[in-house]
Amino acid sequence: MPSNKTALIIGASRGLGLGLVQRLVEDGWNVVATVRDPAKAETLSTLPRVRIETLEMNNIHQLDTLQERLGMQTFDLLFVNAGIKGPDDQNPENARLADIGELFMTNSVAPIRVAQRFAPQVRRNTGVIAFMSSALGSVSIPNEPELSLYKASKAALNSMINSFVMRLEDVPLTVLAMHPGWVKTDMGGEGADIDVQTSTRGMLDQVNAWSGKGGLHFTNYKGDSLIW
Ligand SMILES: NC(=O)c1ccc[n+]([C@@H]2O[C@H](COP(=O)([O-])OP(=O)(O)OC[C@H]3O[C@@H](n4cnc5c(N)ncnc54)[C@H](OP(=O)(O)O)[C@@H]3O)[C@@H](O)[C@H]2O)c1
Repeated sequence: MPSNKTALIIGASRGLGLGLVQRLVEDGWNVVATVRDPAKAETLSTLPRVRIETLEMNNIHQLDTLQERLGMQTFDLLFVNAGIKGPDDQNPENARLADIGELFMTNSVAPIRVAQRFAPQVRRNTGVIAFMSSALGSVSIPNEPELSLYKASKAALNSMINSFVMRLEDVPLTVLAMHPGWVKTDMGGEGADIDVQTSTRGMLDQVNAWSGKGGLHFTNYKGDSLIW
């Protein structure tokens, strides 16, 4: 059944971003979905109530254009999903400046810039801003040293989310740092624990459950709290 809610999903061409859009459409939401290359958005373009926009998240001119195109549209959900794994070899010994710059800009800095731009358009009181973090971004749990650069980029995202929320001051919104589970996508691989349907349905259940509650929460798709 159509709802009167609208979401802005950043990074929706495939994987979890596409899954979020599919679940929202099933629930009757209207969606603005951003992709880097609209020519590769075949699945998205078949979905009803989905408006496709272009955004390479690291390109500030494209962000300016998107902001102009979306005017003062109000969103019930802003979900910044886009992210990358970084170089295959994540031993700091072999890290290259360009790779580290791209990884931290994409995973840690650009998501916050997008959120800062669109936060004024997120509905007061019930609106939710969600960032795709990861349990690997927790600095308290030693694990997965072979993903050390990716882990650091998500820890940096969590820190940037913390500063973003402080800057919001008393604007009444709920902010979520979300762990989707280990999911079968191009990034997660075939051997991952769960499928996109399970992860995205769970994450949207969490969005709905936290709507209106306010504050900042680091949670997984099942609703378990995570340690920062
Ligand atoms: N899969 C997992 O197990 C898992 C676990 C924890 C967290 N995550 C996080 O979940 C998010 C989605 O991951 P996924 O598994 O769905 O990965 P994916 O299948 O590799 O998809 C990544 C998405 O991000 C987009 N993207 C990458 N860089 C971008 C940029 N600079 N500007 C705009 N869009 C960009 C990609 O667009 P293109 O198609 O144009 O490349 C694609 O839509 C990421 O933030 C990831 O770190 C995933």
